[in-house]
Amino acid sequence: MIGYHANMSKATIAVIAAVSAGAGAAATAAMFSMRKPEPTPTSTARTPSAPLPVPVPPSQVFASPPPTTTPSPKGRVPGTPSAPVDPAGLFEYGFPGPTADLATRQALISSYDRRTRNPHWVAEHITPSSLSIRDGDRKHSAFLEDPAIPDKFQAKLKDYARSGYDRGHQVPAADCKWSQAAMNDTFYLSNMCPQVGEGFNRDYWAHFEDFCRRLTQRYPSVRVVTGPLYLPKRDVEDGKWYVKYEVIGNPPNVAVPTHFYKVIYAEEQAAPGGKVALGAFVLPNAVIPNAKPLSDFEVPLEAVERASGLEFATKLPAARRKRLCAETSCSVMVKEYADRQKAFAKK
Ligand SMILES: *[C@@H]1O[C@H](CO)[C@@H](O)[C@H](O)[C@H]1NC(C)=O
Repeated sequence: MIGYHANMSKATIAVIAAVSAGAGAAATAAMFSMRKPEPTPTSTARTPSAPLPVPVPPSQVFASPPPTTTPSPKGRVPGTPSAPVDPAGLFEYGFPGPTADLATRQALISSYDRRTRNPHWVAEHITPSSLSIRDGDRKHSAFLEDPAIPDKFQAKLKDYARSGYDRGHQVPAADCKWSQAAMNDTFYLSNMCPQVGEGFNRDYWAHFEDFCRRLTQRYPSVRVVTGPLYLPKRDVEDGKWYVKYEVIGNPPNVAVPTHFYKVIYAEEQAAPGGKVALGAFVLPNAVIPNAKPLSDFEVPLEAVERASGLEFATKLPAARRKRLCAETSCSVMVKEYADRQKAFAKK
């Protein structure tokens, strides 16, 4: 198992800085400045999660095709009779993918990564009333291989058995007590990642999930997107950056993420169109002492986007964005040991 290092937060910041390296010094400066106390915020102040005014180097822009330097009169349209080759002929045999298996369940929506046998992301929605209904109990749920995923790409129960890792819910079961069927939805392995159990999944990560639920005391509607990351780490020997992660199962099948993210959308109004307090967090898949402040794991949304290859709020204008940790105190509350044992007795 991965141990906790005293320099974990520095290492995490270094990694996040590295993933943002393409954005240049301005973004890095903005990133570090968000750790300082906020100046008196005004409603029009730019929050750190708003798009940064960073010029994007041309090498990073892939949206439009590169200009054709030598326009060929014959063109390069696939299938043009005059071209000597037809790469698109491959598709006669099938399109390679990638395919992101999208599951739309009552409790959650998830996108599955066939290569790592982990989700890319899992999205949930919690409200004060959804959390007030207590019809589901995890003792009536069982972990399930997801039949919606083709068999050869499925995470299997046997991969997790004796791996030393917990089957870590991305959407927590405790957020879906409003019905047994909804709670059952959270038990598909497509909602799981291998997580360090003691000291992380059963402790700090559980307190972090509880933090998300407590946001409903202030916000009428809270959306959370959760998923794994595989972040590079600098090798002490040669100083280069490598991504290293364990793969569990025999034969090896399920990747063990190095980190996890949550992107939190705390909506000020239950109806669409209101202001949204955004929070992005990256935590290592490792033992984290309860005394560690949650704010140490807050990162700019863009850092999660660069690390995951995903985008989370492209349609949310800057004018409607707030920074969650400027609006509310981002800290975990450590529950009683006995409660914790009860909650995780089934792990
Ligand atoms: C929940 O899952 C359990 C175990 O798989 C099953 O026996 C039960 O019928 C399910 N309940 C509902 C309401 O789907």
